Amino acid sequence: MGFATDAIHVGQEPDPATGAIVAPIYQTSTYVQEALGKNKGYDYARTAHPNRKALERCLTKLEGGLTSYVFSSGMAAIDAVFRLLRPGDHVIVSQAVYGGVFRLTTQLLVQFGLQFDYVDTSDLGKLQAAIKPNTKMIYAETPTNPTMIITDIAQVSRLARERNITLVVDNTFMSPYLQQPLALGAHIVVHSMTKYLNGHSDCTGGAVILSRQDDADKIFFIQRSAGSGLAPMDCWLVARGIKTLAVRMQQHDKNGMAIAKYLEKHPKVRRVLYPGLASHPQHEVAKRQQKGFGAMISFDLGDVEAARRLLNKVHLCSLAESLGGVETLISLPALMTHASVPPHVRAEIGITDGLVRISVGIEDVEDLIADLDQALATV
Ligand SMILES: Cc1ncc(COP(=O)(O)O)c(C=O)c1O
Repeated sequence: MGFATDAIHVGQEPDPATGAIVAPIYQTSTYVQEALGKNKGYDYARTAHPNRKALERCLTKLEGGLTSYVFSSGMAAIDAVFRLLRPGDHVIVSQAVYGGVFRLTTQLLVQFGLQFDYVDTSDLGKLQAAIKPNTKMIYAETPTNPTMIITDIAQVSRLARERNITLVVDNTFMSPYLQQPLALGAHIVVHSMTKYLNGHSDCTGGAVILSRQDDADKIFFIQRSAGSGLAPMDCWLVARGIKTLAVRMQQHDKNGMAIAKYLEKHPKVRRVLYPGLASHPQHEVAKRQQKGFGAMISFDLGDVEAARRLLNKVHLCSLAESLGGVETLISLPALMTHASVPPHVRAEIGITDGLVRISVGIEDVEDLIADLDQALATV
């Protein structure tokens, strides 16, 4: 079956008990046992519940994995993946990684003996040079948030496999509709489902999609032990969002390209970071490994005051953290999503104070351009 068909039907079968076309929300913490040790497949909702299982089946199909586990947020999913490691293990993380991952690794996981280096994973030479005898994992975000740097997944996966290193890819910005890292050789995919998978900005969620049984067994153990699995209602919301993933991503992709081209021509905009533009340094890699370019764009207005003026003047675009919803969101990474990254690191990776990030929604693109146009006129 095609992607859109799978997104609508896998894990979304009608309820066998009643025929309801939409599966019910199993809003229960426990399951009655028929006899001691005999149940219908579920005993306690921290361990598993039908809404979680259904969503996991759908995600496994869409990402082409062996199995999946869904978590209370993207960060909970990413934390679970790092817990596959042991004290003394070394991880190479994309240099311009999401601020929350930077905080988790630099401030929390280092206390448990894990070692992290932040490397430009778009540069194979730098990546090779960073590998140590104890390197066990490469964690690549592609495109990176918000600098839109692309890692060549197939190239890095060859290197990782030669060196017996696990390659993890954060596929949040693309969604499985636009990019399938496992087919390109990655071992594990993570998502903030809060973004495109849900698509409607009404819950948080995270996912880990696995290709190896031993990793899967460990992730299930971690989830069950730590109690970080996603609740029934939120699983149901994400599953509902996924039904329209294909059409949403097609429209996000069209609107994203239109806004990127508009911004690139605007005299107040110094630089546009969007992998769909020929000016993007990894445009060719993006063309090769992605089915489209998505709707995340960053652009530089020169300084924080110019950015502040724009952000305070937009009406249709909402000034907010997060991304990937049907509505357009606009933000200033240096003061918002990436505020936990120290200023010198932000400068090194290109998160300037005037860098604005826009998550282009699926509104009529003419309305979005009109809004940006009136706001940019005040800059
Ligand atoms: C690329 C990326 N990965 C992971 C996360 C973390 O996800 P969550 O906010 O659902 O914990 C985010 C959040 O913005 C993100 O942008």
